[in-house]
Amino acid sequence: MTVRKILLLAFIFVLLGLSSSQAPNRTFSVGPCTWIIERQCPDNDIQFYIFSPENPMDRQNIHIDKTLEKSNLSYSTFNPHHPTKIIIHGYNSDMFLGSLINIKNEYLQKGEYNIIFVDWSVLTPGPCYVSAVHNTKHVGACVAQLVERILDMGTDNIHIIGFSLGAQLSNYVATNLKDFKIPRITGLDPAMPLYITAGIADKLDPTDAEFVDVLHTNALVQGKLENCGHVDFYMNGGIMQPGCYSESNPFGCSHQRAPTYFMESIRSYKGFWGWACSSYLNYLLGLCPPTNYLVEAGENVRPKTKGMFLIQTNDAFPFAKGKWTDISAEISNTQPPLTQPFRRAQSPLLNAVDEWGKLDGSFNNKDHFPTPYSQDPYGANWPYFNENGPQEITQDLRSDEDDGPLPPRRPINSKFKSKPARTRKRPSNRINKPVWRSNPSSFSLPVYNDH
Ligand SMILES: *[C@@H]1O[C@H](CO)[C@@H](O)[C@H](O)[C@H]1NC(C)=O
Ligand SMILES: *[C@@H]1O[C@H](CO)[C@@H](O)[C@H](O)[C@H]1NC(C)=O
Repeated sequence: MTVRKILLLAFIFVLLGLSSSQAPNRTFSVGPCTWIIERQCPDNDIQFYIFSPENPMDRQNIHIDKTLEKSNLSYSTFNPHHPTKIIIHGYNSDMFLGSLINIKNEYLQKGEYNIIFVDWSVLTPGPCYVSAVHNTKHVGACVAQLVERILDMGTDNIHIIGFSLGAQLSNYVATNLKDFKIPRITGLDPAMPLYITAGIADKLDPTDAEFVDVLHTNALVQGKLENCGHVDFYMNGGIMQPGCYSESNPFGCSHQRAPTYFMESIRSYKGFWGWACSSYLNYLLGLCPPTNYLVEAGENVRPKTKGMFLIQTNDAFPFAKGKWTDISAEISNTQPPLTQPFRRAQSPLLNAVDEWGKLDGSFNNKDHFPTPYSQDPYGANWPYFNENGPQEITQDLRSDEDDGPLPPRRPINSKFKSKPARTRKRPSNRINKPVWRSNPSSFSLPVYNDH
């Protein structure tokens, strides 16, 4: 090798080093899926919008940066005298998810609040569940920056409400805040896939806030069964929700009930009241009949409540039944029957869950489009929480319908093996098809119907 070549190489390395130290922005993409390897906050892919009594319907974009001076929170309708609710959507969704917007509406009907939505939809599109899970870490850091700027405004009255993957993401908000403990995090059916075996550093748990309250509505399928808060409410047993069986996707419907119940709890007259149960095993054994230790779930939960509680609801709006001790409440005084999947001979799981037995494209959005392909979260090489970084994408981006030409497959490096794409029969009542174009960067998210 000549001296000239060595100098040239050294020069290139210096250039590479400089560019990465100045503006770290390392990502890699496969089709529509973006994996954030290293990025700074603020990040244009994570947007914050505020609603307040001054602008209850028109969202106002706020820029959050490393200091209050660089941010424009103080020029927005944010009022430090009002409590702040930070709402975080989940996978394959955005801030306009109907039930999340309704939570905002209910709060602003009830009183004066700063409602701030985190929109990270660009980093969590379907079908990219595995990369979405991976990206929660970075999004959590940017939401932590938002929390710091709110503290700079002189208030610490902050309540984070996360739905599904947004609930797990709250964990990373907490871990990025060094000297501050968030007063309250509400987890609405925290997402389960990929989180079953994660340690507490990587999932929502009671250490993440002074008070963590959780509603479980579709545990085992999309939410998680294990306790993850100071107080865990298992709605109708926590696995399937009444009134969801007739839906085309009973699981999506049950998962969506978590934000719906929470929304109703904000101004409900009756309230969602649960009774204590010592463990889920005891519940399965039928050892948890209603007791007089009653606790209200949702917005009005009594802080410092601890434990596991069971709640019955109606199968349609209004869902709240009040206390079982109320004569009018029509709640039986024996333990309610076990949730349906345990009793049904033909499990609806078989129709609604994808070939991996866990996920469907309607993970967060009922009536949403099914996944054109799935990522295998349980394969031997699934990339998340792997210290070597993402190792393998197991599936081709593949659609079995005429969605246009396939995006070209991009070999990342020789370690990436490809498996034959799976084809799967999909329901014909598909409403919004994702648009696949030959240029992966022009992939456009489908428009949701349930805005
Ligand atoms: C990083 O690069 C991506 C794609 O080039 C861009 O969309 C994003 O805004 C950049 N982010 C930062 C923080 O520079
Ligand atoms: C804050 O800055 C962003 C980005 O520059 C801008 O879009 C937004 O309108 C600003 N908001 C306010 C309240 O000034």
